[in-house]
Amino acid sequence: MPTMLNTFTTQIDVSSEPLASVQADWLAVGVWADEPYTGPAADLVARLRESGDLTAKHLELVPVLNPVGVAAKRLLFVGLGNRADAKRATLHEAASAAARHISGKKVGTVAFAVPDPAFTLAVGVGLVQGIQGPGIRKTTPTRFAPDRIVLLNANAADLPRVRAEARALWLARELVNAPPCDLYPESFAVAASDAGRATGFSVEVWDESRIAAERMGSLLAVAKGSTRPARLAILRYTGNPGGPVLGLVGKGVTFDSGGLSLKPTDGMVDMKCDMAGAAAVLAGTQAVAELKLPVNVLGVLALVENMPSGTAVMLGDVLTARNGKTIEVLNTDAEGRLILADALCFAAEQTDRLVDFATLTGACLIALGTETSGLMTNDDGWGDAILAAVGRAGERAWKLPMDASYDGLIKSKVADMRNTGGGRWGGAIAGGKFLQQFVGTAKWVHLDIAGPAFAEGETAALDAGGTGCMVRAIVEMAKGFGA
Ligand code: BES
Ligand code: MN
Ligand code: ZN
Repeated sequence: MPTMLNTFTTQIDVSSEPLASVQADWLAVGVWADEPYTGPAADLVARLRESGDLTAKHLELVPVLNPVGVAAKRLLFVGLGNRADAKRATLHEAASAAARHISGKKVGTVAFAVPDPAFTLAVGVGLVQGIQGPGIRKTTPTRFAPDRIVLLNANAADLPRVRAEARALWLARELVNAPPCDLYPESFAVAASDAGRATGFSVEVWDESRIAAERMGSLLAVAKGSTRPARLAILRYTGNPGGPVLGLVGKGVTFDSGGLSLKPTDGMVDMKCDMAGAAAVLAGTQAVAELKLPVNVLGVLALVENMPSGTAVMLGDVLTARNGKTIEVLNTDAEGRLILADALCFAAEQTDRLVDFATLTGACLIALGTETSGLMTNDDGWGDAILAAVGRAGERAWKLPMDASYDGLIKSKVADMRNTGGGRWGGAIAGGKFLQQFVGTAKWVHLDIAGPAFAEGETAALDAGGTGCMVRAIVEMAKGFGA
């Protein structure tokens, strides 16, 4: 792991000890709004409920210091909302909110009483979501990961998956939160190689001359405005030799200034996040490999910096992608589709099942808001399978139309296509239509994660910064693949 990334060192365990006798700095206990409470300190909970100080609505937190009748130093009652509405996302958020509350100072052990063993994964991964924040890099940190997390009343069989998803979520968020002075194409590729070596998947890194030899003219055009050279990282995990391959492609623009179509400061300020797709592919592949799932994964990370300079790609330039198609560049800020074009061509040569992950358009944020990714596909069956996997993971995506009536969005007078829609409308779909030109006959899904990848501000359940979006979803995609 490159030294600029904080490593995940929290030990996660399960224990069947009685809740009241668990030695811990904090014992967090969930309370359902629509069910009687039967856990430790039941008298106290009854009084708190009577006085209205505990309603158990979702994400409500009631800390109790020096509680009587339990061995833990502190108790935290965590509102879970109605059991009738409970699902992975609501339990993930509740655990994350609890963990945020107690990770403001350094503690040794945090124990969480899982309200139902079926929610072990949601709670375990949610806790890790809450113990990590962008402030972890301050000279005086604002968030501290505990030494140990203990899951009580848990399903012990889920522990390996909790650990793998927690470590992957951590990695993805560290990568997104890392500043662009530290994380650029070469250092990202090193992080990928390190992850592969540590976990057991292969990582091949192509430098700019190999990328040129591989006819990836569209990707290289974006990179040439920067002093930092492009990289293409190719991840391979083989858990089902000879079987079908799940192809995952990630947009890895380590900083998006817009290029000569320079962004204003307001639009540029968070653009270190523009590699969140590549981070999800790397972290998701790591989790799949750690779990030794019986699938094959090909991950392709397209890594560039988009900068303005005397050598930058210009408006009016015409590029030739790996599949021979020509592209008229009308806006250098529509760079994600240019790098993904070549990465998708390459992936489509090796497998006919593709998913790409990209912080591709502000238009997708306009359409769907900050919590939901846009899903576009050339195959409804594959699209629905991916949509279902995202949902099972407790994440959100929504399908956008891709019919032929949108083809005009990418029509060019001088080349096979142009890289922007020309007008203001249908910007997310224009991106999808463009990418579709590079997947050949493969079944393909494009996930525009521009909204969910990065949180501008904090909420009860989530710190600002990288969110780790689609890491959990990739594990579900892999588990469902070929099933
Ligand atoms: N990386 C941006 C999209 C983005 C915006 C991601 C906000 C996350 C938050 C992308 O490269 C971009 O600049 N897209 C342009 C496309 C346009 C020029 C067709 C956009 O959205 O304005
Ligand atoms: Mn851009
Ligand atoms: Zn971008």
